[in-house]
Amino acid sequence: MRVLITGGAGFIGSNFVHQTVRERPDVQVTVLDALTYAGDETSLAGVSEEIRFVEGSIADTALVDRLAADSDVVVHFAAESHNDNSLNDPSPFVQTNLIGTFTLLEAVRKHGVRFHHISTDEVYGDLELDDPAKFTPETPYNPSSPYSSTKAGSDLLVRAWARSFGVEATISNCSNNYGPYQHIEKFIPRQITNLIDGIRPRLYGAGLNVRDWIHVEDHNSAVWSILDGGRPGETYLIGADGETNNLDVVRTLLEIFERDADDFDHVADRPGHDLRYAIDATKLRDELGWSPRYTDFRAGLEATVQWYRDNEAWWRPHKAAVEAKYAATGQ
Ligand code: NAD
Ligand code: DAU
Repeated sequence: MRVLITGGAGFIGSNFVHQTVRERPDVQVTVLDALTYAGDETSLAGVSEEIRFVEGSIADTALVDRLAADSDVVVHFAAESHNDNSLNDPSPFVQTNLIGTFTLLEAVRKHGVRFHHISTDEVYGDLELDDPAKFTPETPYNPSSPYSSTKAGSDLLVRAWARSFGVEATISNCSNNYGPYQHIEKFIPRQITNLIDGIRPRLYGAGLNVRDWIHVEDHNSAVWSILDGGRPGETYLIGADGETNNLDVVRTLLEIFERDADDFDHVADRPGHDLRYAIDATKLRDELGWSPRYTDFRAGLEATVQWYRDNEAWWRPHKAAVEAKYAATGQ
């Protein structure tokens, strides 16, 4: 099977490439990645001999057409992915998440290629802290940020191309991922690398916002379950019942680093900050028999801390610039 993986030099995409090379010897992997600030080819260093890497944009019609013609399946991870960046400059989010996805859809339509679209639970907006409800595939779309609205728009394009043009497409909407190779602009690796540097973690607002954490390996095993058994035209929600508020995440990291429980700072809140995400993954579990393996969040965090300790050369070149960007917004 020839699989084109977009965004394969980013956080989740590079983990997906590693998992695929490790567990699917029958798959020929091609990665298409523009190597934006968030992409890093060294994340693929261990598998570079086993894959083909193409540097380029998913919005490049001719390139995408050529690569799709040579593929059986496209797994589409590439995106601008950070909410805070989308509040500072939404333009690349529209270009990549909407125009890029449109470009891919036109190519898979032309060449009759199976398409899997990687999306986010943020398309559903947020839930109240005391609401027993979780997101389901029937929850109405209600995105809050430029990031989540462009992801919602890209999901709707996929649904339309499946229904009107018969593109063999599936969509997955996953909750917050953590694990190796995550860019240090994101919450967990930012606090881990702060703690390694002896800097106090930074909590937006009161820190009561809840995210439904899942290990990146579990996200990617769910994507493979959908590729193997998912029904065309269907949407699957991916989550591992990992609801935790940001304050508790910081307190756990402080414990792992043997620091005082109050050794953190509250900083300016994110405008429009979603309160709570929670995934009901019943459909994925019941229909495809998927279940997560990394169910001990503290153990997963400890392993992730160790990964950032062991791989300082991977993140260190970006740390000063990331912190300078946050300093400009008081965060
Ligand atoms: P990331 O920012 O770490 O990686 C994105 C990758 O896409 C980078 O390698 C970047 O170079 C590449 N890219 C960006 N623009 C491109 C373009 N125009 N053409 C080709 N490549 C381009 O993102 P991530 O956290 O790994 O997220 C991957 C996908 O998963 C995204 O679609 C995101 O919406 C979705 N998602 C992320 C999470 C999460 O918690 N991180 C959760 C659910 C869904
Ligand atoms: O839910 C899935 C989404 O999860 C993905 O679609 C996004 O691509 C991914 O970035 C992530 O979005 P969030 O905005 O939830 O993740 P982030 O890591 O930016 O922030 C997680 C929470 O931590 C959020 O409530 C904001 C808060 N935060 C973040 C940073 C960077 C802090 O309190 N302090 C920080 O320094």
